[in-house]
Amino acid sequence: MKRDFLTVAEFTGSEIERLLTRAIALKAGEDRGALPLAGKSIGLFFEKPSTRTRVSFEVGIHQLGAQSLYLTTQEIQLNRGESIADTARVLSRYLHGLVLRTHAHSTIEEFAAHATIPVVNALSDRHHPCQSLADLMTVIEKKGRLKGVRLAYIGDGNNVANSLIEAAARVGMEVIVASPEGYEPDPEVLERSRTGAEGEIVLLRDPREAAAGADVLYTDVWVSMGQERETESRKVKFREYQVNSQLLRCARRDAVVLHCLPAHRGEEITDEIMDGPHSGVFDQAENRLHTAKALLEMLVR
Ligand code: CP
Ligand code: NVA
Repeated sequence: MKRDFLTVAEFTGSEIERLLTRAIALKAGEDRGALPLAGKSIGLFFEKPSTRTRVSFEVGIHQLGAQSLYLTTQEIQLNRGESIADTARVLSRYLHGLVLRTHAHSTIEEFAAHATIPVVNALSDRHHPCQSLADLMTVIEKKGRLKGVRLAYIGDGNNVANSLIEAAARVGMEVIVASPEGYEPDPEVLERSRTGAEGEIVLLRDPREAAAGADVLYTDVWVSMGQERETESRKVKFREYQVNSQLLRCARRDAVVLHCLPAHRGEEITDEIMDGPHSGVFDQAENRLHTAKALLEMLVR
């Protein structure tokens, strides 16, 4: 039976922890040179741009011994009316895994429903589960544990926030979210995450209240890919939600600041925070590679 990774909810807390342990071992050099996916081919179909996700998957696939094929909307017949179902069926005859970045989450679900190979969500409008794996790996590196770590997410309740909340809840972290009215995380994700969660998930409006006593401050852009038309109104609504030195002072003295990147410096995060001693953002970006490899090792047969 093939296994997909469309949302974090498909993995249990202990599966996530096992995957992170493997990613940490891979980063430390364990099994370097081993080629567990030798002879395999993995397709990357991206409807949106990407720096970290594309490059980390392509490099990771190479390091595991497999071949990657980068496909965009312009290059395949999907653009000329071939159905998602037929595309998924055909690609399943050549490939051993499919990594998808799409606008609508339903596109990924449709691919997964018709593909006979594992499908990985590399970002949709609702979820970014691969990002959360790197986020949690970075929390382990910086804080030495996950359980009981207090994470404050400041800003838009977007795809990154949804997956992060879901992942953090599964491994026993406490999550405090501060977002403007109307920009909260997906209620379905919140409900699912609260079910059986050990740590609390709290929604607030005030970023300072959310940051108080936080071990981790996390933010993402105010305008995600596909929302460009809302840029001006979002910049106004999110003005108070910047991660800057003032906000950092509300958090614990040893707090780490994370951001999935790309950042809009001067909007949701300042240069001094991005480049300062509390920033973990570049380690976090590196960890996309190690977690992508651990994920593919687990899913691709
Ligand atoms: N964090 C992330 O997914 O970055 P890219 O859009 O560059 O892949
Ligand atoms: N929320 C952002 C994340 C980019 C990695 C977006 O969807 O554009």
